[in-house]
Amino acid sequence: MAIKKQIKSEDTKRVPTGITGFDELCGGGLLRNRTYLVSGAAGAGKTIFGLQYIYNGITKYGENGIYIATEERPEQIRENAKEFGWDFEALEEEGKLAIVDACSTKIGIPSHEKYVDVRPFDMRSMMDQIIAIQDDIDAKRSVVDGTTSIGFYLQDPAKIRVELLKLSTTLEILGLTSLMTCEIIDEDNPSRFGVEMFVTEGTILMYYKRTDSVRVRGIEIFKMRGSDHSKNIHPFEITQNGIVVHPHEEVYTA
Ligand SMILES: Nc1ncnc2c1ncn2[C@@H]1O[C@H](COP(=O)(O)OP(=O)(O)O)[C@@H](O)[C@H]1O
Ligand SMILES: [Mg+2]
Repeated sequence: MAIKKQIKSEDTKRVPTGITGFDELCGGGLLRNRTYLVSGAAGAGKTIFGLQYIYNGITKYGENGIYIATEERPEQIRENAKEFGWDFEALEEEGKLAIVDACSTKIGIPSHEKYVDVRPFDMRSMMDQIIAIQDDIDAKRSVVDGTTSIGFYLQDPAKIRVELLKLSTTLEILGLTSLMTCEIIDEDNPSRFGVEMFVTEGTILMYYKRTDSVRVRGIEIFKMRGSDHSKNIHPFEITQNGIVVHPHEEVYTA
């Protein structure tokens, strides 16, 4: 009886991404109420990873989601998702998903979205908006895609660190298990501004490395506090159903 209870509480501690092959790399999933960084170069697959995490959360695990789009307009997000057969619009209509447009106002174009971030960028108002959404849809997962444009806006690394820490702490207090994406240039350095990994509980690195004449996609759990995890780089594919990780294979890098 006691053992059964313990297993159950262990289960609820983990938030499976539902991404084929990934959860096996980290003991069944992410730790609940924590924030993780997903780093990679442009085109590495960060956005797809985030979309799939949110979509699986709602459709496989009954966990509502908030998607904060700072680098693409919600329209583009919906289109990207649709390519994989994930109908975000339907989930929004059902009140299970909220997409925050934190992109349009930044580039000075009008937005007709339900949730629009103000201009100029202000972390406080973004957090207030997330709090209001949380009242509406009681989400369990969120994705901030991404931190890099926020960083460019704030510029000063010390400020970026404080503001991102406020954001990740707020998400955790709201009971959200979250991913924040980070666009990097150098795959040996998992953060763009040198501070992003200090405000998150773990870092997932996505590679799109060239070996000889082919490019190979790989994923690595670079760091995950409080969790045992694979230390290897595992190959993954982007299929018509989304990301598929091969947990029993490794990518060898020179
Ligand atoms: N339907 C698809 N099938 C296979 N690969 C795709 C598909 N759609 C996009 N991709 C690949 O996904 C990559 C973009 O992924 P994305 O998550 O947007 O990258 P990031 O957010 O890291 O810049 C592109 O390199 C493209 O090759
Ligand atoms: Mg992206």
